Amino acid sequence: MADTQQSIPQAGRVIRSQLTGIGAYLPRDLISNDELAKRVDTSDAWIRERTGIRQRYLAQPDETCAFMATEAARMALADAGVAAEAVDAVLLATATPDQAFPATAVRVQAAIGAKGFAFDLSAACSGFIYALTVADALIRAGQARNVLVIGSEVYSRIMNWEDRGTCVLFGDGAGAVLLQAGEGDGSHADRGILSAHIHSHGDLGDILYVDGAVGRSDRPGHLVMHGREVFRHAVAKLSETVQQTLVACGLTIADIDWLVPHQANMRIIDGVGRRLGIPAEKVVVTVDQHANTSAASVPLALHAAYTDGRVKRGQLIMMEALGGGLTWGSALVRF
Ligand code: ACO
Repeated sequence: MADTQQSIPQAGRVIRSQLTGIGAYLPRDLISNDELAKRVDTSDAWIRERTGIRQRYLAQPDETCAFMATEAARMALADAGVAAEAVDAVLLATATPDQAFPATAVRVQAAIGAKGFAFDLSAACSGFIYALTVADALIRAGQARNVLVIGSEVYSRIMNWEDRGTCVLFGDGAGAVLLQAGEGDGSHADRGILSAHIHSHGDLGDILYVDGAVGRSDRPGHLVMHGREVFRHAVAKLSETVQQTLVACGLTIADIDWLVPHQANMRIIDGVGRRLGIPAEKVVVTVDQHANTSAASVPLALHAAYTDGRVKRGQLIMMEALGGGLTWGSALVRF
């Protein structure tokens, strides 16, 4: 539970959104590059060399966005030792909802028995950072105290399996965290989200998009990407937003214990790491295992580093992501 149950902090104290639980769900079906090469004109060597990806998990029909989100949410609650009835908001970041409406978040709310309110948030691969930022604002405004923030994606359903330039890059999965209202003194020694920053440039909407919509049964849509342009923007914008968040906290890259980047592509992760000057040992990498799971990628990577013991209480964790929109952002949390 949170350190305090008060809604209004004492004089000289501030409300902080503390990250108290982490959960994840990966589909049952594990597909290696070699197995994919039986269905698509590609090779393990090409995929590994260009992206670092070795395998991905692909959802079966019963592994829907809501199902995976619910599993991840339950795990995050169990990790925090918090009952579902105590949850007063569910924010679900996804570009692949089960239905146009109701929001997949309300399906999760019903499945776990949470209270309060629930809604989906669409910011493609940056969705989890966007949802964290919004949840943090809700908590600090006193609108909610226990918020589930989830990223859940089934990109396998929006892949053009004839386009080898994109279909090899993505995987399915879900990750979730529980944020709980706590208190701090306003310094960067506080536990919780210390600063979060989000951005979008709508004029770059045509370099990464889905050419249809859930509401169009004639054309549910496939992902389309101009990979080199995305790459160019990704390295520059992700480095900038991480610096922005550090400056807002009066910290430098040397203060960071872990960088948990969006897991799109090893070359982007390396490029951002080099620009920031952060040692590779401090960068959490799961793109080799999960491929790009869009809004689920950051919480899935965080969960991996948490369960293998790398991420520990009190450490400073920088998260960042960039995706269709373009959207991008970063969030710094003391775990
Ligand atoms: N297997 C084998 N060959 C392939 C494949 C494949 N899966 N895909 C493309 N090729 C071939 C092409 O046909 C082309 O062949 P040609 O030279 O004979 O015409 C050659 O490989 C080069 O194709 P490009 O598309 O130019 O490949 P590029 O070197 O740009 O690499 C990649 C593609 C890896 C996607 C790169 O552009 C990149 O890293 N982009 C970053 C964007 C990214 O990773 N996006 C992920 C989603 S967005 C996000 O989450 C931020």
